[in-house]
Amino acid sequence: MKILAIETSCDETAIAIIDITGPKNKPVIKILSNIISSQIKLHAKFGGVVPNLAKREHQKNLPIILRKALKESRLLKISKQNINPKLEILDEIFGHELELLKKFKKDIVKISAPDIDAIAVTIGPGLAPALWVGVNFARALSYTWNKPFIPINHMEGHIYSVLCETKRNKSQTTNSKLQSTKILKFPALALLVSGGHTELVLIKDFGKYRIIGETVDDAAGEAFDKVARLLKLGYPGGPVLSKLAEKGNPKNYPLPRPMINSGDYNFSFSGLKTAVLYLLRGNPKAVKKDIAASFQEAVIEVLTQKTIRAAKEYKIKTVILGGGVSANKQLRKTLSKKVSEELKNVEYKVAPVSISGDNALMIALAAFFTGQKKNWKKAKAEANLQLGN
Ligand code: KG4
Ligand code: ZN
Repeated sequence: MKILAIETSCDETAIAIIDITGPKNKPVIKILSNIISSQIKLHAKFGGVVPNLAKREHQKNLPIILRKALKESRLLKISKQNINPKLEILDEIFGHELELLKKFKKDIVKISAPDIDAIAVTIGPGLAPALWVGVNFARALSYTWNKPFIPINHMEGHIYSVLCETKRNKSQTTNSKLQSTKILKFPALALLVSGGHTELVLIKDFGKYRIIGETVDDAAGEAFDKVARLLKLGYPGGPVLSKLAEKGNPKNYPLPRPMINSGDYNFSFSGLKTAVLYLLRGNPKAVKKDIAASFQEAVIEVLTQKTIRAAKEYKIKTVILGGGVSANKQLRKTLSKKVSEELKNVEYKVAPVSISGDNALMIALAAFFTGQKKNWKKAKAEANLQLGN
């Protein structure tokens, strides 16, 4: 089964094509193409993602990346004429996305239907203007090529990204074969930590999710970004702050562990940010690397302690760490250590750092494991889409 997947929920434009053979419990995944075009530099000037700017960039990038992905996968065939004569349907699909409509009519309609079995796309959660670009592009492709349409939840993508854990060297994700022999054992528990979300998800089976805890205010990644801003480290703050934290002493400025004993599985990180703000006000000469280390330690302690407790309560067999913050070395290390020390016979899975952030490979994987074909005509972006039923 070949799947082409599209991801535009935030500030990365991404397309991946995978070829999966074998059964669900022992698949052989071949990555034909995995392209991620990051807009980070563009948004950095504004100190955060600007939704309409992201939308414009996605419109610009998608046609280019699509060609590149098909070419890399040896699936690109250009036809002399339009392969679909009913162009007015494209007008309806793209609505106000005029730039993309123009490019689609001029260029994409000349690409012959490739040998793929479905088109998957992130429909949410994310920034509505950004999501719509990907959703409409996927709808238009599905219509033009007459291929099934599979809507995917972005957070579900982060869960299945961990199935690419196989250690490989640099050229990691393109044209490599992944033999996922150690497939997920259920029940699994996913700690999903990104810029917009922090949640603990109980997974009873492929596609069966229940959120057992989530942040009541800021997401973990958001907290990293905000504290980095307080420390004047630039945007996005997570990677820079964690690098600085490696050199710091977390014991110099003790910070609170919000909600660590709350008895539930919810989180709160905005108070931690305020604690850093007060610390800086009271002590403008405080050492940045020590604050960074202390903040990071506080976040990691709360995240890991609640994850381990939940894993025990729900007799979990696999612990998953996913989302952009899972790139954090210290978090990866601490959770891995705690799982092996405190949980017996439990597997720990985390994605390679190259795909811990947003990408389309994870969307293709989610489509394979749980995807359901839906009518592209009815598909829409859902900025607040939740996992679970
Ligand atoms: O999943 P993701 O790429 O996008 C969303 O779906 O939100 O997550 C992005 C978040 C940002 O807040 C970023 O600062 C954070 O992940 N992040 C990190 C690290 N790398 C990225 N946070 C802490 N440590 C890191 N090394
Ligand atoms: Zn994400």
